[in-house]
Amino acid sequence: MSNILKVHQVSKTYQSAGRTLTVLDKISFSVEKGSTLALVGPSGSGKTTLLGLCAGLDSASTGSVELADIALENLTEDKRALVRNQHVGFIFQNFQLLPTLTALENVMVPMELRGAKHTKNMAMELLDKVGLADRSHHYPVQLSGGEQQRVSLARAFSNQPSILFADEPTGNLDAETSIKIEQLLFDLNREAGTTLILVTHNPELAAKTGRIIRMKGGALISDTAHESSAVNWND
Ligand SMILES: Nc1ncnc2c1ncn2[C@@H]1O[C@H](COP(=O)(O)OP(=O)(O)O)[C@@H](O)[C@H]1O
Ligand SMILES: [Mg+2]
Repeated sequence: MSNILKVHQVSKTYQSAGRTLTVLDKISFSVEKGSTLALVGPSGSGKTTLLGLCAGLDSASTGSVELADIALENLTEDKRALVRNQHVGFIFQNFQLLPTLTALENVMVPMELRGAKHTKNMAMELLDKVGLADRSHHYPVQLSGGEQQRVSLARAFSNQPSILFADEPTGNLDAETSIKIEQLLFDLNREAGTTLILVTHNPELAAKTGRIIRMKGGALISDTAHESSAVNWND
């Protein structure tokens, strides 16, 4: 089996008030193409930071990240953006839609960046898939949280990513809406073979993935192919 993501001895530090803050400490793991994985751990343990490094949104202080056989550490920000656009979908807890663009336009952005044709039709298809065809001309502020997250999902799918990162994708949504979003994520994994890496505080959601990595204080403390969900990660 091939690995779509290889993280080797990655650390992330910040300088603050003359001191060095270590947010991630020599993290190593690999992720098999087409698999699903949940990253769990208490608030502040470094989950969002790690996701950002894996997705090429940010760069590590030391260590290496290889995404789809591309080493990210020596790339310029422009090159990293290109890799992201070609391989990565990202879903943020707070949606991060562009407020001045409609739902349709938000979904079209990554396609246009890629120079794709027929972007409008493709974006409409994606909005239809997430059940928002009738909301295509609405602005984010006119949509509920769940609807905004569905738009952000359609946007994340729009470049047919080989790997999708979702940072607490249902953290701000009610139970019913959360289930719909989760289904869409796992559908994408099943139907398109998209590798799915998600951060969640929800044990039930984590238990639906094939593997759970637990973090604490910037380090990996366990990594289990999922069978039983004997986890208690909020301590
Ligand atoms: N830009 C930054 N500068 C300084 N510290 C940061 C920065 N970004 C994150 N941190 C710190 O890194 C730690 C991990 O943050 P984060 O990755 O957001 O954790 P999690 O997602 O697990 O809650 C926290 O202590 C946070 O304050
Ligand atoms: Mg976080």
